[in-house]
Amino acid sequence: MKLADNKATLSFSNGSPSIEMPVYSGSVGPDVIDIRKLYGQSGMFTYDPGFLSTASCQSGITFIDGDKGELLYRGYPIEQLASHGDFLDTCYLLLKGDLPNTEESASFHKLVNNHTMVNEQMQFFLRGFRRDAHPMAVLTGLVGALSAFYHDSTDINNPKHREISAIRLIAKMPTLVAMAYKYGVGQPFQYPQNNLSYSGNFLRMMFGVPCEEYKVNPVLERALDRIFILHADHEQNASTSTVRLCGSSGTNPFAAIAAGVACLWGPAHGGANEACLKMLGDIQKMGGIAKVGEFMEQVKDKNSGVKLMGFGHRVYKNYDPRAKLMQETCNEVLAELGLENDPLFQLAKALEKIALEDEYFVSRKLYPNVDFYSGIVLSAIGIPVNLFTGIFSLARTVGWIAQWNEMISDPEYKIGRPRQLYTGATRREIKA
Ligand code: ACO
Repeated sequence: MKLADNKATLSFSNGSPSIEMPVYSGSVGPDVIDIRKLYGQSGMFTYDPGFLSTASCQSGITFIDGDKGELLYRGYPIEQLASHGDFLDTCYLLLKGDLPNTEESASFHKLVNNHTMVNEQMQFFLRGFRRDAHPMAVLTGLVGALSAFYHDSTDINNPKHREISAIRLIAKMPTLVAMAYKYGVGQPFQYPQNNLSYSGNFLRMMFGVPCEEYKVNPVLERALDRIFILHADHEQNASTSTVRLCGSSGTNPFAAIAAGVACLWGPAHGGANEACLKMLGDIQKMGGIAKVGEFMEQVKDKNSGVKLMGFGHRVYKNYDPRAKLMQETCNEVLAELGLENDPLFQLAKALEKIALEDEYFVSRKLYPNVDFYSGIVLSAIGIPVNLFTGIFSLARTVGWIAQWNEMISDPEYKIGRPRQLYTGATRREIKA
């Protein structure tokens, strides 16, 4: 970051001396006012619940222009990355800052492939869970448990340790997600098969069984790979900020990523595609497309508590660029599986059409987000609804670990410690 030409001056109506604060510019996007000395100079904090106006860090990984509907990883538009290379090339880009050349790509793929297995002991740990446990509860536990297996790589001040932890996490997440699924359905775990692609291997671990040969469908393989690319990073969202805050205490990366998984589980964040598919199912039960108008009236009624899931975004006030790509993938997958007339897809299209023209949504700049179509794609592939957020965690792991690594390498990094505006009881004494 560099100092901008102008400075900010904060003045007070009670005659207290005004305070001058430096302003910094990034490479693109809004400038920031540096308030680090504000408390020392004024005895006041800033108040910003939900961090709507706060830049918590400087970062060179992902940039979003919410008004334009633009998403860049290390400067490259998501539309280009979605059709260039595969997910592991995107992982390389996010971790290292540039796309790999052919040799770098091959050796990175080999490195990740060499770490896909998990310690056999992990199976016994998994068996402690009830079979009907939610896969996100299982996954939070399994990811946290990884720190109990890799004592050799948890020195966060050692860049080699950080790198190997990143590779282990990216490589083992598909294995853990598939194990959580297989455990729930009572089928034997499938060991990874490293001659398959990252997403092909995941499909096989999910849907393969020992008594039959599993053939990877290239259309579904490509669709899953695209889902992973689109979800790989999204700057300082709730789960990434959670990983940074958790990691800022110096805890090991597996523990920090487990915190990210836990945060992602919430319906306003990673749980949205699950909620969106449920909403489509509910409208279907109400009577399908014929009831879309009635449902929209509920959405617009503030007292109903009903939201159009998969619509709206804290940052995008335009079409989420990932939603367009996901709609394309949705068409491809449904055509491949002969599900073009799938009623939920038709319903989603009808809802989207109405919402894009309706004054309520237009005036509030509410557009479809990536989750509006991803649930339909995942469900067509055969992924159960309660595993959707697990798939998102798998994809976002690279973003979390790249952001965590960037934070640890930043000389300005400090333990995160927000302050508060206290509104509780003032000091009082217990009566004898
Ligand atoms: N349906 C109906 N109304 C909505 C919706 C929606 N999906 N989203 C926002 N609004 C309305 C709000 O009620 C509010 O109306 P008001 O100004 O009359 O009070 C206005 O639009 C602004 O909404 P906010 O809640 O202030 O917007 P915010 O940026 O805080 O929320 C959020 C963003 C949480 C994503 C919200 O749009 C939402 O709940 N959407 C549905 C859930 C969803 O799809 N989440 C996925 C996010 S993407 C991801 O995590 C990968």
